[in-house]
Amino acid sequence: MTQARKIIIDTDPGQDDAVAILLALASPEVELLGITTVAGNVPLDLTTRNARIVCELANRRDVAIYAGCERPLGRTLVTAEHVHGKTGLDGPVLPEPTMPIKDQHGVDYIIDTLRAAPEKSITLCPLGPLTNIATALQKAPDIAERIQEIVLMGGAYFEVGNITPTAEFNIYVDPEAAKIVFDCGAPITVLPLDVTHKALVTPPRNDAFRDLGTPVGRAVAEMTDFFERFDLEKYGSEGAPLHDPCVIGYLIAPKLFSGRKINVEIETQSDLTRGMTVADWWGVTDRPANAYFIGDLDADGFFALLAERLAKL
Ligand code: BDR
Ligand code: CA
Repeated sequence: MTQARKIIIDTDPGQDDAVAILLALASPEVELLGITTVAGNVPLDLTTRNARIVCELANRRDVAIYAGCERPLGRTLVTAEHVHGKTGLDGPVLPEPTMPIKDQHGVDYIIDTLRAAPEKSITLCPLGPLTNIATALQKAPDIAERIQEIVLMGGAYFEVGNITPTAEFNIYVDPEAAKIVFDCGAPITVLPLDVTHKALVTPPRNDAFRDLGTPVGRAVAEMTDFFERFDLEKYGSEGAPLHDPCVIGYLIAPKLFSGRKINVEIETQSDLTRGMTVADWWGVTDRPANAYFIGDLDADGFFALLAERLAKL
């Protein structure tokens, strides 16, 4: 097997973030160097708590977790308890975590790790608002060319928006941060709602998790049971979209995904369309491509892989 790809997960757990972390911990194709947490779905103290809960669920108290930014670069934090519940991880009853977090700030951890490693040897995997990554780029512009790739969940073109009519949550919460990241020059792959809304946990797919008969399998099934009520009511879809696990799925099995290299700009000015990802899917401008924008996936293949990997934990 080729060498495992070194990754840092930047996250605001969130049930779907939790499944992404579990998938990474179960997959030999990636080596998880550390987790940085950010305010997003719920405030920072809760996202940090939830990251610890998830690592303990996987019996991985050794994972290095660093708390990052408490609020967006220039705006008031918008959270999503209406989707994820009061704790951000509502659904399963899991023990209060006891594993420690690191003293260093998440942003400094990102900077130091990128500077210490060989050039282009670390992939950043943002699963929440892009505040930590943008702050790192602002503080240390030299890291942009050291990043192997940024593979992030955020944005939408055909699906337009989920938190407003035109914006996806992660980009909407901190559009200025998103703009800094999309303009930074590092290779970027985007898993937008266009693809994550095709990664639906249908009842048989959730039964496959539950039927693993393990604490992880049961917890994942209970997380998506909770998480899905929101999307069932809103979209009438067949199940909850597993947004963030698509990032890790793409890294470990890129053949399951397809997209286009296109230009993506972030709307930061308009109150009406704040956080919109203006994605030139049809190539109608001559703006240069700055992102690989994923549009489709083999959902059956993805869920088979997910169940197979979660079974290992
Ligand atoms: C994104 O927003 C959050 O609620 C999810 O965890 C995911 O990262 C989907 O819009
Ligand atoms: Ca998330």
